[in-house]
Amino acid sequence: MNITVNRHSSVTIKEQVRLEIAQRIQSGLLEEGHLLPSVRQLSSQLHISLVTAHQVYQGLEKDGLIDAIRGKGTFVKKRKITPIQNTQPPHPALPPFQWQLSIPDYLPRASYWSHSAVRLPPEILDLSTASIHHSLLPLDLLQDSIKHALSKHTRSLGSYSPYQGDREFLEAISHYLFTQSGLTLEPHRLIITNGTQQGLDLFARTFLGPGDVIAMETPCFSSAIDTFRLSRATIQPIPLDHDGMRIDILEELASHGRLKAIYTVPTFQNPTGIIMSYRRRKEILEFAEANNILILEDDPHRELFSAGNGLKKLPPPLKSLDTTGRVIYLKGFSKFLFPGLRLGIMAADGSIYNRLLAIKSIADLGSPLWLQKALLLLFTSPHLTMYIKSLNQTLAQRRELVATMLSRELNPVIYYPQLAGGMHLWLTLPPDLAADDLIPAAHQRGIHFLPGSIFYPAEPELNHLRICWTNLSNEDLPKALSLLCDLLNRALTAKP
Ligand SMILES: Cc1ncc(COP(=O)(O)O)c(C=O)c1O
Repeated sequence: MNITVNRHSSVTIKEQVRLEIAQRIQSGLLEEGHLLPSVRQLSSQLHISLVTAHQVYQGLEKDGLIDAIRGKGTFVKKRKITPIQNTQPPHPALPPFQWQLSIPDYLPRASYWSHSAVRLPPEILDLSTASIHHSLLPLDLLQDSIKHALSKHTRSLGSYSPYQGDREFLEAISHYLFTQSGLTLEPHRLIITNGTQQGLDLFARTFLGPGDVIAMETPCFSSAIDTFRLSRATIQPIPLDHDGMRIDILEELASHGRLKAIYTVPTFQNPTGIIMSYRRRKEILEFAEANNILILEDDPHRELFSAGNGLKKLPPPLKSLDTTGRVIYLKGFSKFLFPGLRLGIMAADGSIYNRLLAIKSIADLGSPLWLQKALLLLFTSPHLTMYIKSLNQTLAQRRELVATMLSRELNPVIYYPQLAGGMHLWLTLPPDLAADDLIPAAHQRGIHFLPGSIFYPAEPELNHLRICWTNLSNEDLPKALSLLCDLLNRALTAKP
């Protein structure tokens, strides 16, 4: 088993190993019935004492995650959370491939994958996926743009893209970012990526390794946690307050040791929806300056805003306040456009830019040129801005609907913030109610949501869940919300 133990952490080695193994089991990477190394093997593989290895297994057994069977070994227990059924029927001729379990891997956890709605049966009402319902997306604009590219840019089908992206497309994006978000990012500071997710991966591959520490807002986007864990860096969770990532805790941390980077989603944070205040943005930048730290700013939700709920305007992106090239800016197009296009950009400066471009060339030799040409017209069309405006009008009505329904149907002990935009809602249950335990009942009722536990890089808080209210049709959203309210209300009354 490959587990990197941080011997300088304030978390005990026993706890680190227990958490790592627990996360692999909970996210489905270690399957039910998987034979774990013996205490002796675990101790020698991880260079920990026999006593510690034994205590790790004792803790996991107490958590109900493993079974130690005398004379046979230690096995992953049947999971409390029912795994989502794969909609594909199993191939009858496939043998169980038991031998494969003996090949170790480097995957630390995969919460995003294991809770992905892609694995849900189609009849389930999906409150988990963070995207816009397809009926609201500008399909006509996309069709026109593709048709135009088919007649105008046929040569691109036979070419590679420059590693950083197609010149014309970079210019179009640079112009889009200026008009939409006031960001001045010239084309030579941009790299086209295959979705923001690739930007996270390129950053981690370039700048994170064993011994490095990255601070991240907690709770936070689970796939970013998975990506940073894969780099074997240490993740330092930083709690949030109303103004965003807590600067007092960052400062405390910097006084103790090395921090290399900060990851933040400052605008409509995933999953909490918090918008980092202008003042906090300035403080984080000053902190990064003073401590020579990189900031990875992930900004996929900025477009999803219309003034309301006391907020007239969004604070500017950190990147627009950055005068020294410390911020690496990620902009995705999956949250207000088509996630299936898998396109995003990364903006950086100086040698940081060059190093990211080098890794992009190593990772995939550049994003598909054809796709960039196919989207050129869409990104230069004045209709794009009009579409974003009209999308926000529709979403404002949905926000109203969500607020009205929850205030009418949900037990008021369940807390949720007022929405100012974005696409998620973070619900907080009483402390003794675990959202993970409600997943099987939710599936039985025909809904799916994300349990809050997957958004924590370390010990999770179990009494939260995240729903996305933009992904269902107008007809299905009220149905799903009613089912959810009923489920949560009943869970509250069923509590011992
Ligand atoms: C904060 C955040 N960053 C990145 C992504 C991934 O976006 P993309 O589809 O552009 O890869 C998501 C998707 O849920 C997200 O919430």
